[in-house]
Amino acid sequence: MKIRNKILITGVAGFIGFSLAEKILKNKNVKIVGIDNLNDYYSKKLKLERLKILKKKKNFKFFNVDLVDKKKIKVIFKKNNFDIVLNFAAQAGVRYSYKNPKSYTDSNIIGFINLVDMIKNFNIKKFIFASSSSVYGDEKPFPKSEKSKTYPINLYSLSKLSNEHFANSISKSIKTKIIGLRFFTIYGPWGRPDMMIMKYLIASKKNKKFLLYNKGDHYRDFTYIDDAVNICEQLIYKKFKKKFDIFNVCSSQPLLITKVIKEIDKYSKKPKILKKGRDKADVYKTYGDNKKIQNYLHKKIKFTDYKKGVQRTCNWYLKNHKLL
Ligand SMILES: NC(=O)c1ccc[n+]([C@@H]2O[C@H](COP(=O)([O-])OP(=O)(O)OC[C@H]3O[C@@H](n4cnc5c(N)ncnc54)[C@H](O)[C@@H]3O)[C@@H](O)[C@H]2O)c1
Repeated sequence: MKIRNKILITGVAGFIGFSLAEKILKNKNVKIVGIDNLNDYYSKKLKLERLKILKKKKNFKFFNVDLVDKKKIKVIFKKNNFDIVLNFAAQAGVRYSYKNPKSYTDSNIIGFINLVDMIKNFNIKKFIFASSSSVYGDEKPFPKSEKSKTYPINLYSLSKLSNEHFANSISKSIKTKIIGLRFFTIYGPWGRPDMMIMKYLIASKKNKKFLLYNKGDHYRDFTYIDDAVNICEQLIYKKFKKKFDIFNVCSSQPLLITKVIKEIDKYSKKPKILKKGRDKADVYKTYGDNKKIQNYLHKKIKFTDYKKGVQRTCNWYLKNHKLL
């Protein structure tokens, strides 16, 4: 199959978008246009530093644009003949959906619909978008396969599930082939400061309290960033079999939060812990089945062992803590 060479990545200053762009840009035949609204949901300094790295590459162009701004998005699509579009721009986080629901309806619903409209109008061949493990909710049994029932329990997961349904229905009437990826707790260097491992490291470094919910009695299917990037990269170059498909992106190894904390403690001093009850936004456990994506890809993924992943994440943080 022809190597895809003009790629649009939305949310390119974010954790996953940046990590994927950085990897793909090593191929000089590929051109990436990245967009991001550089919102201040978390450290803007971190987003700008990620962008600084990408902007060093000649085959990268950046636009500070919001997905909600349809006119500006249209101009970008008009000027570029994209082969493939990857959407990572979204308001992430489950707890924040109770604080600022509008940011979810703006970016994840209106922004998503605007983007899909462009995909349709400009006849884009392939579209990959980020969904989330949160669509599964808190119901047994585990592990969750793509055929499992969905039970969204907050606005974030609802917005992701609505993206899936919308993309599925529109795929029936357009030429674009679409894949949605249900990411499970992605972590690693350049990771998000609002997620557990970075929050713990920040509390330790800055002598702040770390809020431990439900005594750390939660399981998360921690998935290392390089493995998620590897999956996205393979999909960019692959011929999609169906008009619409959904895949879990997970290591399929749920870990107890307290176990991960023990591992982090090997690399940084223990922060003060403030014990909290269970948060209404949190599911008890995430645990996905990754057989479907493993069978779909040419090269099977050898998922990174969490001890190695945590070590690399801690080492990165200790060198770069001023960015967070
Ligand atoms: N990291 C995870 O563990 C995880 C898990 C499940 C799903 N996801 C999904 O994967 C995607 C990427 O996640 P991430 O961890 O990189 O998040 P992130 O917050 O680091 O990246 C998202 C980026 O999108 C940008 N953005 C937000 N709204 C925008 C808008 N309206 N227009 C333009 N840019 C906008 C933000 O500024 C940010 O840089 C998101 O859709 C997220 O919901 C991530």
